[in-house]
Amino acid sequence: MSEISFRLALPEDLDDICALEEICFPEEPWSMQMFREELQNDMALFVVAEEQGADESGEHCAEKDRIVGYIVAWVIAPVESQVGSIAVLPEYRRHGLGRQLMEILLAACRETGTPDTFLEVRVSNEPAIALYKSLGFENDGIRKRYYQDGEDAYTMARRGAAAEKESADGAAYAENESDSAPAPEETK
Ligand SMILES: CC(C)(COP(=O)(O)OP(=O)(O)OC[C@H]1O[C@@H](n2cnc3c(N)ncnc32)[C@H](O)[C@@H]1OP(=O)(O)O)[C@@H](O)C(=O)NCCC(=O)NCCS
Repeated sequence: MSEISFRLALPEDLDDICALEEICFPEEPWSMQMFREELQNDMALFVVAEEQGADESGEHCAEKDRIVGYIVAWVIAPVESQVGSIAVLPEYRRHGLGRQLMEILLAACRETGTPDTFLEVRVSNEPAIALYKSLGFENDGIRKRYYQDGEDAYTMARRGAAAEKESADGAAYAENESDSAPAPEETK
């Protein structure tokens, strides 16, 4: 894996993000329009993980840069935040990118004094549940038949200072940008 950087999503990223979305959520992908709306949403934190492309000599070649992950979240400061969606391409998983994307959100929450973060996750999604628990999220309930295919969702919550303590063991907090955002119509 080449160097990965994190930055705010841009309109020109949308084709790559939608391709990634089809791979990561084949059963219920967000549409191009949904992502486009998040780019324009003042409350949305929409960040991509981008692998730096290189030419034959190993020099950075921007044309070969590749979006390999993203997060969309809404930070309704200073009340709460909600994860809308997060994904990493299969061949880039288990390298800490999902954790770093989540840490960017949590850093934005700290900066804005937003104590609580919520999300929904398929009850079968063990990798994502393990990621969230490692960051201090706890099960907070169940939403029956939340997904279009009838699967239930766990709601998970990471509340205030207690969670800060649990995940204070040092994953890199990518510096960031938070301004953030409105309530999700639909979350994963
Ligand atoms: C969930 C997802 C974003 C995780 O991304 P990732 O980059 O692989 O996650 P990380 O490498 O940062 O993992 C961080 C921690 O999460 C846990 N974790 C991640 N994947 C795991 C797996 N397959 N099995 C068990 N634990 C896992 C581990 O605790 C891991 O830490 P470790 O590698 O030091 O053991 C990725 O699996 C994904 O894109 N899945 C498909 C889309 C999706 O389900 N999104 C979530 C919707 S709610």
